[in-house]
Amino acid sequence: MYELKDEYLTGIPSIDAEHKVLFEIADEIYQLSVNEFVPDKYDNIAHLIQRLKDYTIMHFEHEEAYMESIQYKQMFTQKVQHDHFRQKLEEMDLDTIDQDQDGAIQDLLKFVTDWLVEHIMETDKKIAG
Ligand SMILES: [Fe+2]
Ligand SMILES: [Fe+2]
Repeated sequence: MYELKDEYLTGIPSIDAEHKVLFEIADEIYQLSVNEFVPDKYDNIAHLIQRLKDYTIMHFEHEEAYMESIQYKQMFTQKVQHDHFRQKLEEMDLDTIDQDQDGAIQDLLKFVTDWLVEHIMETDKKIAG
């Protein structure tokens, strides 16, 4: 359902490879949202949020290091967007998941996929110039 499409490629192989994994995590969230055989999804949701956090933070570090290495001019704009997303990830509250598990997964899925597509298309794709 969700995967790295050609139009999302930045042309920087190491960054594209990590974006591919981020889409795979988004797809796992989607798969969980449509899975009717797991009655209690709390552990799966918590696990996916942690995986998303860990991978995103690592990816941002790599991307920022790469931008520094090429003295990328719009590094500041990038960092502001990364910081904003890191902040949102930190604010995710596991305590509220159980109030509405399906709603929580849908919100997470929309949040991640909207952000990924928009940030990659509007911002990451500019890195390679
Ligand atoms: Fe980025
Ligand atoms: Fe990125």
